[in-house]
Amino acid sequence: MTVPVFDSALTRIPRLGFGTWPMKGVECQAAVESAIGLGYRHIDTAEMYGNEEPVGAALNACGVPRSELYLTTKVWWDKPDGASFRRAFDACLKRLGQDYVDLLLVHWPSPQLDLPSVLQAQAAIRDAGLAKAVGVANFPLGLLKRAVEAEIVPIAALQVEHHVYLDQQRLLDYVTPRRIVLTSYTPVAKGVVLEDEVIQGIARKHGATPAQVALAYLLSKPGVAAIPKAQSPARQQENLDAANLRLDAEDQKALAALPKGNRMVSPGFAPDWAA
Ligand SMILES: NC(=O)c1ccc[n+]([C@@H]2O[C@H](COP(=O)([O-])OP(=O)(O)OC[C@H]3O[C@@H](n4cnc5c(N)ncnc54)[C@H](OP(=O)(O)O)[C@@H]3O)[C@@H](O)[C@H]2O)c1
Repeated sequence: MTVPVFDSALTRIPRLGFGTWPMKGVECQAAVESAIGLGYRHIDTAEMYGNEEPVGAALNACGVPRSELYLTTKVWWDKPDGASFRRAFDACLKRLGQDYVDLLLVHWPSPQLDLPSVLQAQAAIRDAGLAKAVGVANFPLGLLKRAVEAEIVPIAALQVEHHVYLDQQRLLDYVTPRRIVLTSYTPVAKGVVLEDEVIQGIARKHGATPAQVALAYLLSKPGVAAIPKAQSPARQQENLDAANLRLDAEDQKALAALPKGNRMVSPGFAPDWAA
């Protein structure tokens, strides 16, 4: 299975990746090794997941050259300034046991975020070759625009919740023409799609599964990547095979008609999403 790649001037990211939260320890390492063995080449982790060590160990043990793998990590929002962000990133690299990551994201915007200084830290990390590209996660449109327009470091990626029930059209309208990849987290809506009769109907029609329909919906949008998490090799394979599913106009119409304002991840420290 060859996963399609989004290739901008800033990054070359496999559009179907593997989410690792909330797996930990040996279970996490085994899942990542299994995913890479099946053909995943893009692995998503974060400082906050507490699994950078097993993720890095899996990368080191899997037998696939590092240059063929795409690794994302994220620094947690309690590092709102450049100096603390840099210290946290250095610790990420150490735990990962890697010389570099492919993508380094600000995990969430803090209310105390000193955006220019964090962007400057990301620029220094990128200039040193320790992160090939940088970006942000969970930024609402206004803050994303500020990050891009600051022109301190080029923003390669935006990672946000995005699935059949949350279409993120405002963000897509901004990032797509700028060739900023939008990486979709919670792409199978934490499994809710499995019970959805509309999605089940589309899946039956194609001899596919509801999770595959949900992922194919995301992959049908230009410049969009998705990072489903699945523990078992069978589900990992099922999700990977979604890259082969092509939805037709009738499917797209039915999916477009599903309610689109259902956000599943909005912790107390989340920003004002409309900002
Ligand atoms: N940047 C952020 O703030 C942020 C926030 C949330 C998530 N993320 C990233 O995005 C990744 C994915 O998001 P997520 O884990 O919240 O949601 P998700 O991938 O939409 O859903 C994961 C859940 O769906 C189940 N599942 C996956 N594939 C399935 C399939 N084919 N059939 C049936 N069930 C299936 C999984 O079960 P099993 O594992 O038991 O198979 C798991 O319970 C995370 O792992 C993380 O890397 C980032």
